[in-house]
Amino acid sequence: IKTVPPVELANVYFDMFPEEVSPIWRNPCDDKRHLSIWSVAKTCSRLPKFLVIGPQKTGTTALYSFLGLHPSIRSNANSPTTYEEVQFFNGKNYFRGLDWYMDFFPPVDNSSDTVLFEKSANYFDSDVAPERAHALLPHVKLLCILINPAKRAYSWYQHMIAHQDAVAMSNTFYQVITADENASKAVRDLKHRCLNPGMYASLLERWLDYYPPKQIMIIDGEKLRSDPVSVMDRVQAFLGLEIYFDYSKKLKFSKKKGFYCQVLDNNKTKCLGASKGHQYVPMEPKEEEYLRKLYRKDNIALSKLLPRLGRSIPSWLQEELADLR
Ligand code: A3P
Repeated sequence: IKTVPPVELANVYFDMFPEEVSPIWRNPCDDKRHLSIWSVAKTCSRLPKFLVIGPQKTGTTALYSFLGLHPSIRSNANSPTTYEEVQFFNGKNYFRGLDWYMDFFPPVDNSSDTVLFEKSANYFDSDVAPERAHALLPHVKLLCILINPAKRAYSWYQHMIAHQDAVAMSNTFYQVITADENASKAVRDLKHRCLNPGMYASLLERWLDYYPPKQIMIIDGEKLRSDPVSVMDRVQAFLGLEIYFDYSKKLKFSKKKGFYCQVLDNNKTKCLGASKGHQYVPMEPKEEEYLRKLYRKDNIALSKLLPRLGRSIPSWLQEELADLR
């Protein structure tokens, strides 16, 4: 038997087992051996019971703010870098560890009816998030929102313009979505980030590899926008909340904003900021046409997947399929 100092030993070990270089965090309270070495000062109650996984630009901020009105629901604390989003399971933050993640959540008494959640809209299209989320939170409920993927892509591009993203600013939407191998890497990356989250069926399948359908709620984003009260009723039922919150008293359509907004105690309304619910010129017909073709296969797959999961087909998808005939 030969022994070497810890770092050297770790290097030897990871040379032998490179697939173990990335950690997978599991819930220490689910394993007796882990629990026995888990500090008594720590708790497993600082973990979310549900996640809003995205994708971006489908109304995730509206859902997040509506959920925050419910007396039993509490979100994570704001992150200094990603604001309301923790973005743990999808990227580098994962390597900050479990304590880093749990510090975003308040400790919750077992007897309390408080339900913790977090919303990170990039989880939906992350290739690592489903496995990582499932390892730590196998019983968590997942909420995702779908709108027409072409509309989502355009909204995302407009969002980048509003944030003065240099690559978006120097390329039209059409140039971005049609970028081929001759385009610069920056444009191709932008295109990927713009279009990939709209491949709903294939991305949902990745989550379904880890989670049973009953743990996943698929929200029609158009409905969330036009009738948030009925959507929030369904969300409450899905989450199995003990306290029912009547959203009809707290959400009101603002003609000025063109969206539902929160009713404050003084009867004034508080809408989401200027970056949500933008005004911009409509998509050009050639852009719509291009995206319709691009998303065609995935939309058809989605129209088969949803009934298989016992879910209805949203009106935007019905319209899209009618156009395909
Ligand atoms: P636009 O700004 O392109 O209109 P996300 O929060 O996931 O980034 O999504 C932003 C989108 O949410 C907005 O896109 C808007 O269409 C939609 N949305 C739905 N309900 C809304 C609401 N009540 N207030 C503001 N935006 C809402």
